[in-house]
Amino acid sequence: MILSISIVKAAPKTADALGIPVATEGTVPRALGLNRAALAANGFEGKAGQTLVVPSAAGPALIAVGIGKPAELTANGLRNAAASFARAAGKRASVATSLTDLPGVDATAAAQAVVEGVTLANYRYVGQKNDKTGAPITSLALVAGAERTVGVTAGSQRGQATAAAAWMARDLANTPPSHLTARMLADKAVEVAAASGLEVEVFNKDQLKAMGCGGLIGVNAGSAEPPRMVRLTYSPKNPTGHVVLVGKGITYDSGGISLKPSDPMHASMKMDMSGAAAVLGTLGALKALGCKTAVTGYLMCTDNMPSGSAMKLGDVLTMRNGKTVEIHNTDAEGRLVLADGLSLGAEQKPDAMLDICTLTGAVLGALGDRIAGVLGNNQPLVDQVREASERTDESTWQLPLAKEYRKLLDSHVADMRNIGGPYAGTITASLFLNEFTNDVPWAHIDMAGTMKMESDDGWLAKGATGYGTRLLIDLVTNFTKP
Ligand code: BES
Ligand code: MN
Ligand code: ZN
Repeated sequence: MILSISIVKAAPKTADALGIPVATEGTVPRALGLNRAALAANGFEGKAGQTLVVPSAAGPALIAVGIGKPAELTANGLRNAAASFARAAGKRASVATSLTDLPGVDATAAAQAVVEGVTLANYRYVGQKNDKTGAPITSLALVAGAERTVGVTAGSQRGQATAAAAWMARDLANTPPSHLTARMLADKAVEVAAASGLEVEVFNKDQLKAMGCGGLIGVNAGSAEPPRMVRLTYSPKNPTGHVVLVGKGITYDSGGISLKPSDPMHASMKMDMSGAAAVLGTLGALKALGCKTAVTGYLMCTDNMPSGSAMKLGDVLTMRNGKTVEIHNTDAEGRLVLADGLSLGAEQKPDAMLDICTLTGAVLGALGDRIAGVLGNNQPLVDQVREASERTDESTWQLPLAKEYRKLLDSHVADMRNIGGPYAGTITASLFLNEFTNDVPWAHIDMAGTMKMESDDGWLAKGATGYGTRLLIDLVTNFTKP
C-alpha cells in the first residue's frame, strides 16, 4: 500500500526514524548530534547515496542522508537520496525526514522528489506470496518550516500522485500472465477510470474486427483469450491541447509461431504490457494533478500465443488505416497492435501522439537497462520527451528515424513486412510505426530495456520499474503544441 504522508513543523517523537540531509561540505545539522569528524570516522562523508544510521536510546533513530556537493544538488539527486534513506530505514514503519537545509532546490520540487524517492524505494510486490507483509514504510512525515509549508504541500501531493501511478504500473507488470489477461487489464482500466474521472470505452473482439483493427486481431489469432482495446479520455475544461497516448499491452509475449526459447529472460515477457500500464497510470493521475491538456489513451491488449489458429509467417494483415502487412516474424507483434492504436489516434487529429512500448531487444543492446530509446517524426515533440525525461530521471536517448532504412520493410506481396533486417531493429520498428501516424506529430518510446531491474538502484526497485509513467505525466502536464 501507498504510505500516508503528513507535513509537520517538527519531527514527531513517535517516528521510528528521522532522516537528516548532510552535504559533503558546510555545517552538519545540529539535530544529528555528531560533527563531521565523527561522521567521517564512521565512513560517512555526505556523498550522494550514502546513509548512516545513528541509533538513539529514546526517540527516532537518526539517519544521516548524504546529498553530495551542495552546489550540485538537484531534484533528481534528492529523489535518489530519499530512496537511499527509505532503504536505510530497514523495517522501521514510521519515518520522518527534514526538508530544511536543501540548498538550491525549491520547496515544491524537493517535496515531490522526496515523496517519489521514498515511495518508489518502499515498493514491494507481494503478489502470490503467502507472506503479505509488503512495503515496510507505512507513514512519512515531511518536516518543514512554516515558510515552506505551501510549497511542500503542493509538491507532496504531486509526488503522491506520480508515485502512486508508477506503483500501479509496477504492480500490473509484475503480475503473472495468467493473473492479468487482456480482459483483466481492461477491467482494471475501467476501475481506474471510475476512480479518477475518466471516460472509458472497452472494445471486444467483434467490435475490433468491425473497426478493421487487423493488427490487434492478427496478434490475438492464436490465443485462447479474447483481445481488448481500451480508450480512456481525460477532458479538462478549456484544454490547452490534445495528446494521444498509445500503450503496448501484450499480457504475455511467447513469440507466437516464431516461438521464443525457454530461457529465464522470457519469464519477463509477462511485462510486455508495461507500455499500457504506463499509459493507464498516467491517465489515472491527471485529474489529481489538475492537468490542462486533454489526453486520450489507447491500451492495445492481447497475449501473443502459438496455436493452430495463430497467424502464420507469410500471412498478410490489413490494418486499421488500410495498409497491408506481410508477417515475417510473429514475434514482432508489438508494432502490429500499436499500428492500429496509432491509426485510431491519428483519426482524432490530436496536437501530438506518443506511443510507449517494450518493443525491441535491440534497444536493450544499444542503450542498456537504464535508458529508453526515443524516436519521432517531429523534433520539438521529441525535445519535449527529452526534457520530461530529464526532469523525472526516466532517461531517454534519441535514435534517428532513418528514412534510408525504410526499404528494409519492403514486401513482395503487401505494402510492407513486419520486420527489417538483422541490424538497427529499434529504428526499423519505428519506421514501421511511422506508417500509421498519418503525419501527426509523433514520438515513440521503446522501453524494452528499462521495463525491469535486476536489483534495487536509487528510486528503482528490483522487478518491474513502472518506467515511463512519471515521464508521460510530466510530459502531458507541461505539454505545448509542437
Ligand atoms: N517484447 C519483445 C521485445 C522485448 C525484448 C522486450 C526484451 C523486453 C525485453 C518484442 O515483441 C519482440 O519480441 N521483439 C523482437 C523483434 C524481432 C522479431 C524483429 C526482438 O526484439 O527480438
Ligand atoms: Mn515479440
Ligand atoms: Zn513483445
